[in-house]
Amino acid sequence: MTRLYLPMPGNEIVARALADRAGAELGAIETRRFPDGEAYVRLISAVEDREVAIVCTLARPDDQFLSLVFAAQTARELGARRVELIAPYLAYMRQDKRFKDGEAVSSTHFARLLSQSFDGLVTVDPHLHRRNSLGEIFTIPARVEHAAPLLADWIKDNVADPLVVGPDAESEQWVAAVAARAGAPHIVSTKTRRGDRDVSIDLPDLSAVRGRRAVLVDDIVSSGRTMIETARKLATAGMAKPVCVAVHALFADQSYAELLSLCERVVSTDTVPHASNAISVAALLAPA
Ligand code: R5P
Repeated sequence: MTRLYLPMPGNEIVARALADRAGAELGAIETRRFPDGEAYVRLISAVEDREVAIVCTLARPDDQFLSLVFAAQTARELGARRVELIAPYLAYMRQDKRFKDGEAVSSTHFARLLSQSFDGLVTVDPHLHRRNSLGEIFTIPARVEHAAPLLADWIKDNVADPLVVGPDAESEQWVAAVAARAGAPHIVSTKTRRGDRDVSIDLPDLSAVRGRRAVLVDDIVSSGRTMIETARKLATAGMAKPVCVAVHALFADQSYAELLSLCERVVSTDTVPHASNAISVAALLAPA
């Protein structure tokens, strides 16, 4: 029997693309709120004896997490052979350390909760900073796909004379790989983060790259401050408006509009549905 893709609300487009690619069935999950705000979940498609892939990107996870877990556990109860989570964006990976006494190390707790409800995970570029792999926190098999080649190919096809600009020293290796594939030079900024929305950026010497179009690349745009401050610094340094290319377009508050006003163009992959989506990751998420 073929694999069954079940999208959580808002994930229908990616799930359909995956089902079409795999020649698999696209099913449905009904979700709503009871009058008191509690979550109602019903699997519309039969799951008995099937391999089920629940598709749910985890941007703004708090609103949907319980429904997701209810759906997964219901699929198991109703006899699914295997229940996998396809989460193009995996939330909570950045709080991977107790920065202040008493803080929750959310990445560990979140991984543990998902591991209890699913038999496997597929995701794109999880933010692994102080960890080497998802295996350090997940107890289920986790497949990680990388969007860097897609970003590089987009830059090559869409930007003349690019200069790839990375957000910080930690991103150097990733940025260098994107730049090499795009056939472009690269630089990285020096970033100081003092708070969630308080970031300052210093650029290296730009004299050798002045005629080029800066292309800011990053794995996540969250508050947007990293890209916004970098775009401001480039303007102050007399560079043309940059292009921004990101994997996960979270864009809190008004950050997208603010960034757009400083840039030539802002694009992202479709791991998180957003107006900036221009690069599809469907090919990465298809069964290995
Ligand atoms: C940091 O390590 C990441 O690569 C991003 O630069 C960061 O998460 C972006 O966050 P924000 O948009 O809030 O500046």
